[in-house]
Amino acid sequence: MISQAEFFDSYAEKWDSMERPDICDLLDRVVRESGISAGMDILDVGTGTGVIIPCIQRATNGDCNLRAIDISAGMLAIARSKVNLPNVRFELADIEDFDCPDCSFDAIICNAVYPHFTNKSKVLSRIWSLLRPSGIIVVSHPTGREAVNKVHREASAVVTQDKVPTIEVMSFMLSAAGFTNISTTDEPEFYLAHAGKPH
Ligand SMILES: C[S@@+](CC[C@H](N)C(=O)[O-])C[C@H]1O[C@@H](n2cnc3c(N)ncnc32)[C@H](O)[C@@H]1O
Repeated sequence: MISQAEFFDSYAEKWDSMERPDICDLLDRVVRESGISAGMDILDVGTGTGVIIPCIQRATNGDCNLRAIDISAGMLAIARSKVNLPNVRFELADIEDFDCPDCSFDAIICNAVYPHFTNKSKVLSRIWSLLRPSGIIVVSHPTGREAVNKVHREASAVVTQDKVPTIEVMSFMLSAAGFTNISTTDEPEFYLAHAGKPH
């Protein structure tokens, strides 16, 4: 079986054309409701082709430092071709072993990527250690849980088991990792969980 990185490499060229026409509105909602604001240092995990970056730029008026990581060189190549901004830095990296002793962030966004993590508890504790006190974690699926699970079921054996957790399971995992102020939305076409690292 091919790796996840190879799987997403194979989708890179056509990824943006597969997005819903209203994806920008949905991502603007993710950013707005998560409390992303100007002045933040932000990590976009699994940035793909960078679809959420314009929304973050809009919400912060470009006043943020954004680091965007992905395991797929193909997806990153598309993202780099679209976004060339002094405050945005792309990097080929896996959050599961993202080691950055000098890094700290005010917000870490996992948009449309959480089900792909192999060891979700490990990722949550890594995100915890990368966040500053009062930092926020965002786990979002702007097209909704069922829609994502259906796409994964039908796409390829590489992702068929990658399911968006119910909001109850997501809340439990965030709480077990130490996060507080957990806020969730689980609508048929919109899924968002965000939470804070206590001060
Ligand atoms: C479904 S795509 C979503 C991309 C983008 N966030 C979006 O909303 O369009 C998932 C992305 O996460 C990346 N990815 C999967 N596992 C990852 C990991 N452990 N660390 C970093 N990126 C990962 C994949 O390569 C892919 O580009």
